[in-house]
Amino acid sequence: MKPTPGRRKLLTVLGLLPAGLLPAGLLASTTASADTTRQTASAAAGPFYPTPSMRFPDIDNDLVKIESRVREAGGEILQLSGQVTTVAGEPLPGVRIEIWQCDVNGRYLHTKDNNSATADPDFQGFGFTVSDEAGRYAFRTIKPVSYPGRTPHIHVKLLHGDTELITQLYLKDHPQNERDGLYRRMSAAERATVDMTVVEQGDVLMTEINLVV
Ligand SMILES: [Fe+2]
Repeated sequence: MKPTPGRRKLLTVLGLLPAGLLPAGLLASTTASADTTRQTASAAAGPFYPTPSMRFPDIDNDLVKIESRVREAGGEILQLSGQVTTVAGEPLPGVRIEIWQCDVNGRYLHTKDNNSATADPDFQGFGFTVSDEAGRYAFRTIKPVSYPGRTPHIHVKLLHGDTELITQLYLKDHPQNERDGLYRRMSAAERATVDMTVVEQGDVLMTEINLVV
């Protein structure tokens, strides 16, 4: 993709500032891949949602680093961020956002995952955060990988009062998407709400996706 002026500006700024210091809305204006006029497509939670007893004591928004462990998770680091809004575009602060996904070897942090692959002991597997005053959220995780039967995806659960939204985020244009039963079931408009466009920044990958409830 040829960089647009806005994207070049973004990359320049990213070289100077840690992601956490980015002006709110800058990423959204340049790399947003989600259709914010439509509610984010919901999806089943699937069989591998880690219940509290399965989780590490560390359940923060950095899934790459488990507190008390020296090494970081295997895989490509992905900065996942965005804004939680209503369909009308109003920011929603105070929304609890949970994510869970398999590790670089395709194993979930779940006692019922029968995948014979060796689990990565340094991948947190589950994390949560709460959207800030501007509805913004951020996670540091790994670029999702496939496991038997599924194209790469990140599971997301939003909890806001009585409202709960469960969805799965995908790598836009990943070749396995078209062979994935759950992905194929979605319309083009629904896919547009959950397709992550990943941008490279040095050795870090970034994606911005808005979650609309
Ligand atoms: Fe899954």
